[in-house]
Amino acid sequence: MLNDKIKQLVETCIARISNIDEMSANDLQKIKSESLGKNSELQNMLKSMRDLSPEERPAFGQLVNEARKTLESAFAEAEAKMKEKVLNEKLQKETVDITLPYQSVSCEERGHLHPVNLVANEIMDIFKGLGFEVLEGPEIETDYYCFEALNIPKNHPARDAQDTFYIAEDIVLRTHTSPNQVRVMEKKQPPIKMLCPGKVYRSDDDASHSPMFHQIEGLVVDKNVTLCDLMGTLETFAQSLFNEQTKARFRPSFFPFTEPSVEVDLTCSNCGGKGCKLCKGTGWIEVLGAGMVNPKVLENCGIDSTKYTGYAFGMGLERIAMIKYGIPNIKLFFENDVRFLKQFR
Ligand code: PHE
Repeated sequence: MLNDKIKQLVETCIARISNIDEMSANDLQKIKSESLGKNSELQNMLKSMRDLSPEERPAFGQLVNEARKTLESAFAEAEAKMKEKVLNEKLQKETVDITLPYQSVSCEERGHLHPVNLVANEIMDIFKGLGFEVLEGPEIETDYYCFEALNIPKNHPARDAQDTFYIAEDIVLRTHTSPNQVRVMEKKQPPIKMLCPGKVYRSDDDASHSPMFHQIEGLVVDKNVTLCDLMGTLETFAQSLFNEQTKARFRPSFFPFTEPSVEVDLTCSNCGGKGCKLCKGTGWIEVLGAGMVNPKVLENCGIDSTKYTGYAFGMGLERIAMIKYGIPNIKLFFENDVRFLKQFR
């Protein structure tokens, strides 16, 4: 009698879970606890064992245990199937239809480059077109690379702690990108035609100076490089960056690492040279420092100055961006006020 009941119980249970496609994971769990849990009929039967005679008990116990094992393995199988079914349903639901049309992001939300990066990219593109390669160097420099190798004497104001950020006695935050000239020339023999963009640091702070700003420096070393090459290259560059009418003016100047040295003014891009507020009525704006690489610097780097000559130039990117976009204060670049940044979208 009891034996039949157990068999029937197992059969009904297996029939119920065979219908797995139509049920949810919760339904399956419910059937499991109804069939094998504390209040299941199988458990009740075990309890009723005490009504049997001692001789009948072992055989009955074995039967119930077999039934339980059968059910447990049936549930394990059903649960594995259920897991796969749930995963397939999830994959189906989350399929991305790559043929759907692109949902455009409004201009308001779209990100864009910072104005300093915009001018840096523009300047690099112009010089790359003239055959320059971009080589970057470290921002933390030794006294040797930042000053000594560039012929900057011990008593030069740039060496003073008031102008330069010292990290240790011989380690500084680079005050210009020129130390990378030295690093490149040490490793490479001419021809060299390079640009070095990057952050530089000076203890300086007002409407047109920031303790951190960006420079791009250029260096060309080869046989027969002359001041005329420098002048022609820089004027071509200025005309590409501003407009075809831009003219360059070269004034004698001094840098320890170039000889002769020049300061380069460009005709004001705002008034075309007539004189306006931006150029303080002069028609010219000072933009670059440049010159012929001092032979001492070439020799310091192991380049034969009787065979090779070179020119170098350097400019501040914020200054160029201020002129190009008419920005009155350098601080605007670093405050990250979105109302300012949005204008360069
Ligand atoms: N290194 C100079 C500066 O930071 C700029 C410069 C570079 C001048 C190359 C001449 C030649 O002021």
